Amino acid sequence: MRELNGAARHRIGFTLNGRAVSGWAEPRLLLTDFLRQELGETGTHVGCEHGICGACTIRIDGRAVRGCLYLAVQADGREVQTVEGLADPDGALNALQRAFRKHHALQCGYCTPGLLMSLTDLFARTPRPSEAQILDVVGGHLCRCTGYAGIMAAAREVAAEP
Ligand code: FES
Ligand code: FES
Repeated sequence: MRELNGAARHRIGFTLNGRAVSGWAEPRLLLTDFLRQELGETGTHVGCEHGICGACTIRIDGRAVRGCLYLAVQADGREVQTVEGLADPDGALNALQRAFRKHHALQCGYCTPGLLMSLTDLFARTPRPSEAQILDVVGGHLCRCTGYAGIMAAAREVAAEP
């Protein structure tokens, strides 16, 4: 532990999209802020900062969580996946990302990282989700632009893939 301006900071480390990362975090620091400000990983967006909009959704140890409701120190020793980890290392988009592009499932893109991570989580646990299961996940995210039709179409297409 060390102090910065009188505040205690703790050394933390975790696996981010397959690589080890570490840094210093005050106990109150949100994981979203640690990712964006300490690690420079700005793919995870921050909207409401109280668990409603879903923009900050990431996966921790294989489960979708709201990054704005998760403290950075809680991530110590865990496996964290963010939207930056979805594409191949050469930048090739994965099937869900390609479906979003094909179906115009984004406009401003602010909600997109969170939706991609929640749907990634759904497909990891339920490769062939029903319409109701997709709707349940998509309904947990606020999108001000698209009207959701493209998002649902993209998710349906991935759900129907062999
Ligand atoms: S920023 Fe986390 S749910 Fe809105
Ligand atoms: S694409 Fe703009 S908020 Fe969803």
